[in-house]
Amino acid sequence: MRAKKWAKIWKLTNRTFHAESLKMNMIINECLRLYPLVPTLTRKVEKGVKLGNLNLPGKINIFILIRALHHNPQIWGKDVHIFRPERFAEGVAKATNNNAAAFFPFGLGPRTCVGINFTFNEAKIALSMILQHCKVVLSNNYVHCPADIFLTPKHGVKVIVQAI
Ligand code: HEM
Repeated sequence: MRAKKWAKIWKLTNRTFHAESLKMNMIINECLRLYPLVPTLTRKVEKGVKLGNLNLPGKINIFILIRALHHNPQIWGKDVHIFRPERFAEGVAKATNNNAAAFFPFGLGPRTCVGINFTFNEAKIALSMILQHCKVVLSNNYVHCPADIFLTPKHGVKVIVQAI
């Protein structure tokens, strides 16, 4: 891409990384809370261990259900199934009733996804470039049906795009 063109795009998208960045992070977090792409984390228990109230025997695999935790009303409140990015306005701890470890679309601990920053930046750049030029409205024909293991929209995402 020519330097001049790149400079123009950077100028347009730049504000995403400043004042509006927090809001955009909240929106991306809320999308990943309701629709985490990775359904479960798998861990192998090598030796017997006590984990909270659980006594786990050795040589088993455990599956940690990210989606179940992301949809637990005891953690997120009664509006758990509602898309409400503002729940993240004061950070993950406040959003989760002080259970910040219950929100982990990118995993947790030493194996946390190395692509987090890349993912957030890519989403913000793509969205801000689209929204600079278009108004996007959900079509009346849209049918909400996340399906399969990666929650792919079964009937597509039907939107009406208008140039602005
Ligand atoms: C929305 C996008 C993404 C989601 C939801 C996601 C989710 C995850 C999760 C849950 C893990 C932890 C797996 C585990 O602990 O068993 C992980 C690990 C990893 N992710 Fe991502 N990821 C995303 C994007 C990316 C991208 C864009 C890259 C690379 C550019 C990437 C590279 C990796 C790598 C290398 C690991 C393994 C890290 C390790 O084991 O040390 N991911 N990801």
